[in-house]
Amino acid sequence: MKVTIVGAGNMGRGIGTRAVAGGHQVEIVDRDPVEAGKLAEELGGSATALEPGAPFGGEIVVLAVYYPGSKDAVQAYADQLAGKVVVDITNPVDTQTWDRLATPPGTSAAEELAQLVPQGTPVVKAFNTTFAPTLVAGEAAGQQLDVLIAGDDNDAKQKVTQLAADGGLRPIDVGPLVRAQQLEQLGFLHIAIQEPLNLGFASAVKLHP
Ligand SMILES: NC(=O)c1ccc[n+]([C@@H]2O[C@H](COP(=O)([O-])OP(=O)(O)OC[C@H]3O[C@@H](n4cnc5c(N)ncnc54)[C@H](OP(=O)(O)O)[C@@H]3O)[C@@H](O)[C@H]2O)c1
Repeated sequence: MKVTIVGAGNMGRGIGTRAVAGGHQVEIVDRDPVEAGKLAEELGGSATALEPGAPFGGEIVVLAVYYPGSKDAVQAYADQLAGKVVVDITNPVDTQTWDRLATPPGTSAAEELAQLVPQGTPVVKAFNTTFAPTLVAGEAAGQQLDVLIAGDDNDAKQKVTQLAADGGLRPIDVGPLVRAQQLEQLGFLHIAIQEPLNLGFASAVKLHP
């Protein structure tokens, strides 16, 4: 598959690493084309940086940017998203307090994005419970990483499932997009316990069968 990653930061690196390892074609988009070029070079393999303004080639578009900027990105790239699978990976933590999510009760960042994408464009929540360094490593403490995936469109979820599995990760379908509310709370909890438990963003959320 061809995968467009918007955001040449930590998660662009993490998900890009797994996508290249899985044999997928990766294109990186960033506000700063120099950063996009640097990450593409670092990822190697099939990875390229998309020229500013060039059309997105990926059938999957991963928005590897912070919330609420992810909403601005969807609006800025709206004409590129129709017909693609849009992946929301955000943990929309309230950066004023760092003690709650910034989204209103009863919704999630993923559901908000689903309202903003072109009509009929599926949004899938995934990768918000995996930290970037563990994605680069492809494991945490020798354990395969679980990628919890929520979405309403089964074909779209299947593509994200394939992307995760090809990269050596363990995809787990946790249900419809409304489950993103719980995934975002879980991601927030995982972030909140890093410092008190001295986990150093090297831990993983793992479901043992
Ligand atoms: N880091 C993790 O371990 C982790 C784990 C799970 C989920 N997440 C989620 O993943 C998302 C990204 O986190 P991150 O740590 O990768 O952030 P990051 O390192 O700051 O990377 C984000 C990148 O996206 C760029 N960007 C922002 N808006 C853009 C736009 N409209 N178009 C193109 N590029 C844009 C940023 O550029 P500027 O520097 O110019 O802003 C930056 O290069 C966040 O929503 C976070 O909650 C992170």
